[in-house]
Order: sequence, then structure tokens, then C-alpha cells
Amino acid sequence: MRNDEKRIFTLNSIRYKNTSINIIENVYEPSEDSFLLADAALSEIKGFERILEVGCGSGIISAVIKANTKASIIGIDINPHAAKCTRENRVDVIRGDLLSCIKGRFDLIIFNPPYLPTKDEEIENGWLNYALDGGYDGRKVIYRFLEDAGRCLIESGKILMLVSSLSGIDEIRSRMVSLGYVVEDNLHENYMFEQLTVLSASKK
Ligand SMILES: C[S@@+](CC[C@H](N)C(=O)[O-])C[C@H]1O[C@@H](n2cnc3c(N)ncnc32)[C@H](O)[C@@H]1O
Repeated sequence: MRNDEKRIFTLNSIRYKNTSINIIENVYEPSEDSFLLADAALSEIKGFERILEVGCGSGIISAVIKANTKASIIGIDINPHAAKCTRENRVDVIRGDLLSCIKGRFDLIIFNPPYLPTKDEEIENGWLNYALDGGYDGRKVIYRFLEDAGRCLIESGKILMLVSSLSGIDEIRSRMVSLGYVVEDNLHENYMFEQLTVLSASKK
């Protein structure tokens, strides 16, 4: 665990880096991936950037950014419970499918995607499935997001995305490169069963 982490969990709420959020049912509970991406975003943001968080879930990452930077941030989630939760955690949010409803351009797009390889018979009913199900190789939602992300970035814009060894970090990096991005590793952490890395992708 990184040295600077101090997380306080109570029944339905979490305190982290100068903010506190509540979690409601049917919404992804913030985990190591959430905190790693939040920390990577804080190290990246320098001023008044316009930021979009795709798949905001409870809104934890956006709330941390809002509490610790001057950037403006808006979240998107396909899960109506996540959109409600994010709004109740005082972050602006849209309910939508990836970037389909976005017309504008942003300095930074962040995404902690569903990345677990999931066979058809493992798909669960209910909204929480959207938080986890990355398709048979774990990259289905990630690749769909990457296909459209360039349209929503300014020329000097950047993507910060959490990826896991469970869904193939090299494959995702290669896809980003083939789409014309310059890719760097930001933060990473090793756990018993997986490695989590935050990839940073800039337009050339
Ligand atoms: C791993 S969770 C991350 C939640 C939160 N950002 C965090 O780090 O705690 C992935 C989130 O992406 C959302 N999601 C999945 N597919 C989506 C899609 N097509 N469009 C928008 N959001 C999506 C899920 O509902 C879920 O809230």
C-alpha cells in the first residue's frame, strides 16, 4: 500500500484525501483500482483543466479531484444508481453509454473500466455487472472507449486509464499506440493475483 494513503471506511461511506463520499446499493464499491487512478489523476492535474470521468461509479475519483484541485470535472455512468450516487456525492454527472452523449472536448479523460474477463455464462443480472464485465478477454469496453476517445480530447489532451494484467496490459498499450497515442506508464502496483497500472496516453 502506498505510504500517503489514509482511507477511512465506515458502513456506507469512505473518507479519502480531503473528501468523503457515500456509497449506495448497486454501485461499485471503491477499491485499490479506484484509489490508484485517483492518485495518478492528482499527480497529473496542474490547474484549471476540464476533465471527464467515464464510468464514475460512486464518484469517488471525481470527488477527490474536486476536493484537491482547481479543475472542473463531470462524470458519466451507464448505471442509473451510479449516476444518482455520484450526484449525491456533489459531483456533476450524466447518465450515458461511454462517450456517446459527449459533444465537447476535454483536457483529460479518466476511466477505471470494467476489465474482468467474463464468459457469457458468468454474466450476472443487475447493474453491478457493468462495473466488472469486460467481455471474454476483459478488453471489450476498453476498446470501444478508445475508438471514440480522441474525438473528445483537445489537441494536447490526455487519457488516464486504469488497466490490469488480468485483461492484458501490453495488448491495451498496443491498441493505444495503433490509434496514434504516445503511451506512458504512470503509477502501478502489484497484488497477489494481478498488476494494476495507470496508462497515460497523449495525442501525438
Ligand atoms: C470498475 S467501476 C469504476 C467505478 C469508479 N470510477 C471507481 O473507480 O470506483 C466501472 C464503472 O464503469 C461503468 N460503466 C461500465 N460500462 C459503461 C458504459 N458503457 N458507459 C458508461 N459507464 C460504464 C460501470 O457502471 C461502473 O460504474
